[in-house]
Amino acid sequence: MTATKAKIWGQYFTPAPLANDIISATRHFFEEGVSVALEPAFGKGAFYEALKVAEIPVDEFCGVEIDPTLVADRVACGAQLECADFTDIPPRKQCDLIITNPPYTRHHLIPKEQKERMASQVKEELGITVNRLSGLHCYFVFLADKWLKENGIAVWLLPAEFLDVNYGKELKSYFVHNVQLLRVHVYNTENSSLFDGATVSSCVVVYRKKKANPGETVLFTYGESMAAPDTRQTVACEALADDFKWTKIFAKNPAVNGDSGKLSDYFFIKRGIATGYNDYFILTKEEMEERNLPYECFTPILVNKRDVYNKIMENDTAGLPLTKKCKYVLDTDLSLNEIELKFPKLYAYLQYGEELGVRQRYLVKKRKIWYKQEVRTPAPYYCTYIARNGDNGFFRFIWNKSNVIVTNNFLMLYPKPVLLCALERGKITSEEVYCALSDIGTETFLTESRQYAEGLSKLEPSELGNIAFRLAL
Ligand SMILES: C[S@@+](CC[C@H](N)C(=O)[O-])C[C@H]1O[C@@H](n2cnc3c(N)ncnc32)[C@H](O)[C@@H]1O
Repeated sequence: MTATKAKIWGQYFTPAPLANDIISATRHFFEEGVSVALEPAFGKGAFYEALKVAEIPVDEFCGVEIDPTLVADRVACGAQLECADFTDIPPRKQCDLIITNPPYTRHHLIPKEQKERMASQVKEELGITVNRLSGLHCYFVFLADKWLKENGIAVWLLPAEFLDVNYGKELKSYFVHNVQLLRVHVYNTENSSLFDGATVSSCVVVYRKKKANPGETVLFTYGESMAAPDTRQTVACEALADDFKWTKIFAKNPAVNGDSGKLSDYFFIKRGIATGYNDYFILTKEEMEERNLPYECFTPILVNKRDVYNKIMENDTAGLPLTKKCKYVLDTDLSLNEIELKFPKLYAYLQYGEELGVRQRYLVKKRKIWYKQEVRTPAPYYCTYIARNGDNGFFRFIWNKSNVIVTNNFLMLYPKPVLLCALERGKITSEEVYCALSDIGTETFLTESRQYAEGLSKLEPSELGNIAFRLAL
């Protein structure tokens, strides 16, 4: 095997102690037994062997490997081996477990036609546009999706750089939005005896093929061993934006580190939703009841600050926000056929919307499903960011304990990992965070806000993020 060939096929095999460490750390996800396991990029079958060492019962083990020499060497090992290009074959089985170290072949070494074919396959199968700087391992993850059973587990040993670089954005988005991300371990390879002088830093990503539910968390760990990590951080899935550098999760509290300290150190700040036509999409409780519309296709929403009586929003016993002024925004991904069958009144309301020409409105016509809003989960803090001179209290924060979301008349504050961890560990309470936010003086707000005519002041998300702020975590 020439060096070039090894590079093109990414033939760097996982040392047995490393594969064993990964199995020890992940076995609780599948140790009950596996019907069909798959090691795409089988190589010498490092994970096949590690599963045997760990005595995990596996009924059928499949391997796909492109190099005929390796397949010939391992043909009698007991796994069902196929000599093929994994990126170019349909799934032979639906698997409960996919586990491997795929080839990390860099983008410039992947032939142009292969790259184009894989990119259009991923687009077709998952609707994802792969960044052209992606290495072969990214395509492996996307193309393996169709091999994995619903609720099946996938474990990938990957180069850690995707956590922080641009080409990793789609991969991170897939882990957060398409599947239920369970664990990310970043290896400290410096002194680790598990690696044979590896030149890339490595991480392991574990997920279940299942959509994540709001509020679910992911365990991030760091250290020389995945089974016995040095650092652990639990992070809410919502906080894992794909453009955020995931290795920063292991960074310490920025204010403690001596940085100046600003709101964006602790929060992701987003604008609330723009419906494209509030008069149609947002209804009062009375309108909902008059038209007999199903609450399950609507989300509670605050439209503007006049709707906020209390600075703390709570749910009532029926799970709806306790405010007389709460409204409801139409937001469902049911198809028209399903709506017609299940909710004829809502179907009639959609027909009415068509007649009104709602669908032709600028924002509405850009959506895939015209009556489905942008995805926003409720945030724990909202900020009113438009103020007039005469306003009482100027910019205000709302502590949201309810399931209400907001329109773009508000900014939404989602805690970043550093704050989430502190909250989870009890170093600070949500109330203390709310009090700290409420203590920000009008003067501080005004230094960052934009002034318009007639005493109007506004804060963009990035301007709110720049406001001086420190928490003692
Ligand atoms: C990084 S090695 C890992 C092998 C093994 N899974 C392990 O962990 O030791 C990647 C393997 O993928 C194989 N490979 C490269 N491109 C492939 C492709 N398109 N389809 C299937 N296997 C491929 C290489 O020959 C190599 O054996």
